[in-house]
Amino acid sequence: MKSIKTIVLKVDPHQPEPEKIRIAAEVLNSGGLVAFPTETVYGLGANALDEKAVLRIFEAKNRPADNPIIVHIANRDDIYVLSENVPQIAEELIDEFWPGPLTLLFAKSDAVPNQVTAGLATVAIRMPSHAIANALISEAEVPVAAPSANLAGKPSPTSAKHVMDDLLGRIEVLIDGGEVGYGVESTVLDLTTDPPAVLRPGPITVEELRKFAGEVEIHPIARADVPIEVAIARSPGMKYRHYAPAAEVVVVEGPIESMVEKVQELVDAQRRLGKKVGIMAMEETAPRYRADVVKVVGSRLDPRTVAKNLFKVFREFDSEDVKFVAAESLEPRGIGLAVMNRLRKAAGYNIVHVE
Ligand code: TXA
Ligand code: MG
Repeated sequence: MKSIKTIVLKVDPHQPEPEKIRIAAEVLNSGGLVAFPTETVYGLGANALDEKAVLRIFEAKNRPADNPIIVHIANRDDIYVLSENVPQIAEELIDEFWPGPLTLLFAKSDAVPNQVTAGLATVAIRMPSHAIANALISEAEVPVAAPSANLAGKPSPTSAKHVMDDLLGRIEVLIDGGEVGYGVESTVLDLTTDPPAVLRPGPITVEELRKFAGEVEIHPIARADVPIEVAIARSPGMKYRHYAPAAEVVVVEGPIESMVEKVQELVDAQRRLGKKVGIMAMEETAPRYRADVVKVVGSRLDPRTVAKNLFKVFREFDSEDVKFVAAESLEPRGIGLAVMNRLRKAAGYNIVHVE
């Protein structure tokens, strides 16, 4: 790929400077690529109605062409342009959760290019709550197609530095708005089925969705506790191992005391083989471990801290040349389900259960 000059714009995440937002919006309007922060992770945006611009997203990320992209909007009315079939349940969920980290799947209208949806009959839409994302989409006055702003196979970026490491020279603009809030990608809810189904767990939890939508299914891929046949993966992104770490990763699940014991045992065995070993631990139990690298990912008492640091810690293990990582687990409920989904996938479903 020919290298292009990437302009980095430092923007205030609370009060985005209008003149900087205008520069980025003009790049979107002329078919360019702009990476920007959202409340979940950084996104890599292009004008969703411009087929050529959307194709450039796939090129910049090395993204497989059959993996569809979420369309981001700033105006609720835009959903009626992107879909002619918005069910009542959507209106209620939108009232409650938009703007915010909930992506909804609708039947797509003809206005949505096939490049965005990878040929599917559905379109995924979300309205981000981050002030920069909102200002950028409003100023551009077009829906913005945006996957996470990482190279395919890398963890989603939670800071501008991660985006730079992956995409410098591949995109026109990077808006540096500091660290993101949640650190895991939005919840994806399929509204084209009855009952609706969570295809990707995220910051809006299954428990919260059930309060507003009644019966909500969790697709087996969203639990990610066993590998899923591609044939039944409803969302094409499901079949990609989002993040393939250089190290072998094992996740240990079960009661805390037995988990701590097993994590240490697994790491000791690998260390005896001469490998550089690491542990991904919660704040509460980290001091109990011995390994070459012990990383604290967050607090068990506040799983949101784990979500926020998870992808950053993944990237750190990769750059420190650790060959084997044993990871502690969280209860798979609330945002813990989103964390466990990412962790189990990163481990390639290499899960050890203890009693
Ligand atoms: O929080 C997020 O959702 C971030 C920020 C940037 O908004 N975006 C993000 O995009 O995570 P991406 O492309 O990394 O993940 C989108 C997921 C993929 O698993 C994709 O397969 C699925 O959503 N998806 C998108 N459109 C779809 C569709 N029409 N049908 C089924 N799945 C879809
Ligand atoms: Mg992604």
